Amino acid sequence: MGPVLSATEIRDANTRYHDVAAEHYDSKWGIDFGELGRSQVSAKVRKALGHEPGHYPRALEIGSGTGYFTLNLLRAGLVGQATCSDISAGMLETLQANAERLGLEVHTEPADAERLPFADASFDLVLGHAVLHHIPDLPRAFAEFHRVLAPGGTVLFAGEPSRYGDRLARIPKRFATTVAPLWRRALRARAAGQSAAKESDAALEGVVDVHAFAPGELARVARASGFEQVRVSGEELLANWFGWTNRTLEATAEPDAVPWAWRVYAYRGYLALQQVDRRLLEPRLPAAIFYNLMLAARKPLRS
Ligand SMILES: C[S@@+](CC[C@H](N)C(=O)[O-])C[C@H]1O[C@@H](n2cnc3c(N)ncnc32)[C@H](O)[C@@H]1O
Repeated sequence: MGPVLSATEIRDANTRYHDVAAEHYDSKWGIDFGELGRSQVSAKVRKALGHEPGHYPRALEIGSGTGYFTLNLLRAGLVGQATCSDISAGMLETLQANAERLGLEVHTEPADAERLPFADASFDLVLGHAVLHHIPDLPRAFAEFHRVLAPGGTVLFAGEPSRYGDRLARIPKRFATTVAPLWRRALRARAAGQSAAKESDAALEGVVDVHAFAPGELARVARASGFEQVRVSGEELLANWFGWTNRTLEATAEPDAVPWAWRVYAYRGYLALQQVDRRLLEPRLPAAIFYNLMLAARKPLRS
């Protein structure tokens, strides 16, 4: 176990880690701003809400990174004016470059989720993807989401690691670490060198991820902040196992030594298994066993 860090140290580590990650973030995670990204993000919003999304005139994204959610939602026509906030200025610079390339208008604002520099009741939708697990004081952050939302507004988060799903994902990671030498030999891929930069990156990764959630915990923190109609659901099981196996294998080789055909196989396989998860497993299995949790809730019209 690593040292116990203060909330300030966790926030600083998040800023540094994501500032450095910003440049290669989209290629590392296969982030798409075309038809695929649009349909992925729209499907996640639909799944989190449990019904077709409406139109949100004013949206605020928390921990928006390079814009995966908001830029795709703008292109899908689901949001009007978009504000993107993040603790990492580096991520927001990449987001602005992506928005310019796509011809989209978005306002960016560096901000910690626990202290939002926005007026009360100024948004109809507060959303985020893969960010809650980085935030040290979640009740404080949820109080801020509630404050900046207009009465009747929606809060929506997706891509949050579930505690049990995270434990299950250790199985494919361990398996991949064991078979990696054989995999590299089969693909004639050179083993990756251990650089100081990589080691410090891996160490920081352990610091920036501060939570994995049980579905009930996420629901409780939302309710305690005053939200109603709270809904927590799970997504991705097989796709995630497949993804973690491949990412763990790939991390053991030099990036330029991993053949393109392998990358195509890994990407297409992931997308195909996402469909299997979506159609067969997600409607039938409990949220807790999936790798990702999603939360949607509403701020009451009257408090
Ligand atoms: C895993 S990335 C996800 C980025 C983006 N939402 C996506 O799905 O591609 C997490 C993001 O949360 C941001 N973040 C971490 N801690 C934060 C905090 N306390 N307040 C606001 N943003 C934070 C990071 O800088 C990073 O951009």
